[in-house]
Amino acid sequence: KVQQDLVVGGIAYPKDAWTNTPGTILSKIPKRLHDQADHPIGILRSQIESHFKGFTPVSPAAAVVTVKENFDELGFAPDHPGRSMTDSYYLNKDNMLRTHTSAHEVATFRAGHDSWLLSADVYRRDEIDSSHYPAFHQMEGARVWEQSDLAVLKKLNAEMKKQLEACPLLIEDIAMTSGDNPYQAEHDPEFAAEVAQNLKHSLNSLIFRLFGQTRPGGAASNEEPLKVRWIEAFFPFTSPSYEVEVWWGGEWLEILGCGVVKQQTLITADVPHKIGWAFGLGLERIAMILFSIPDIRLFWSEDARFTKQFQAGQITTFQPYSKYPPCIKDISFWLPETASEEHGAKAAGGGGAVVQGRKPFHENDFCEIVRDVAGDLVENVNLIDDFTHKKTGRKSKCYRITYRSMDRSLSNEEVNKLQSIASGRLVDEMGLELR
Ligand code: PHE
Repeated sequence: KVQQDLVVGGIAYPKDAWTNTPGTILSKIPKRLHDQADHPIGILRSQIESHFKGFTPVSPAAAVVTVKENFDELGFAPDHPGRSMTDSYYLNKDNMLRTHTSAHEVATFRAGHDSWLLSADVYRRDEIDSSHYPAFHQMEGARVWEQSDLAVLKKLNAEMKKQLEACPLLIEDIAMTSGDNPYQAEHDPEFAAEVAQNLKHSLNSLIFRLFGQTRPGGAASNEEPLKVRWIEAFFPFTSPSYEVEVWWGGEWLEILGCGVVKQQTLITADVPHKIGWAFGLGLERIAMILFSIPDIRLFWSEDARFTKQFQAGQITTFQPYSKYPPCIKDISFWLPETASEEHGAKAAGGGGAVVQGRKPFHENDFCEIVRDVAGDLVENVNLIDDFTHKKTGRKSKCYRITYRSMDRSLSNEEVNKLQSIASGRLVDEMGLELR
């Protein structure tokens, strides 16, 4: 009998045409790296929590949320690309793995918390390289005030401004709060501006705490102030919205997204009289910089040479153990006929039957299959050739797959086996024709 339900955390989710979450992804849910005090993700989480004094730490249980929580209630348009099956993991049409911690904003505000930090594992379908992994961790932070408390907020901002002036920080603020990135019509513009100011003070101070002491390669920080840049951004659930970047190793690194919470979120959460800000940051990206961890797969390693290097409360530099040689395999194929590409049925994916025609080729689907077969042995998937046959109009692609284990040497035979299983599945499930 065909299994009709996907069981996650003891709850059965009936499969449907949206089901696209493989077991390899579900197996990450119980790991909870953010709860491990001596894992880099847990260590970073604690550092941020101790920086935000008085904020309530929250850690939701289920990685499964409703589509309503992840998207609808946050104002995502019906055709927002994040909703697509190529970008997100669905259990079925109503339930999914959260793609961001913002999925818990409404519930956390509804629980009555005014200042909180929520850490959780989040899931996104993506490409494969040293900084992308389909499971990762985010921290959401938020702070709200009663709309009658403008005087309180102004006083707080004056104090924070003074404290920050003592830090060698160079802040470039090039974000507009007009045009596409306005204060909300529902807000007193003076209050909204103070909220945005508090957000900026709070995050500049966090960034200084995390990045202010050292520079890339462990160089001392007393030479140059730390450079931080605020640019405008767009999120459906904040306005104005910002992205914050840090100047690190000769480039601007994007650290987080944030903004003034859309009043609709607070209305939905039954706290319409409050006003405030929220941010969301990716813990892996920051931990990779602070601990000098070169590959995002290492966070999931259970090899003692990795896990034994870290202690609660300490940001230390990762000492790489020997890097094992890579094993590189190319795979070339023709895409299914153009016609079926364009008129591809919407369904299919993850165990579902393929309905007449194919959905358009998407690199994330390709990577999902490779990852499902080879797991953490895939280091990189890179498009190295892409062309259209002049006469027939058919499209061909060639991907280079780099296999490498973090813990041991791979044999060519073992990798050939993986490559052949992956090729077989790519043919069956995506209609590719090997060349
Ligand atoms: N959830 C957003 C993301 O994952 C980040 C964010 C959080 C932006 C809170 C604004 C406010 O990209």
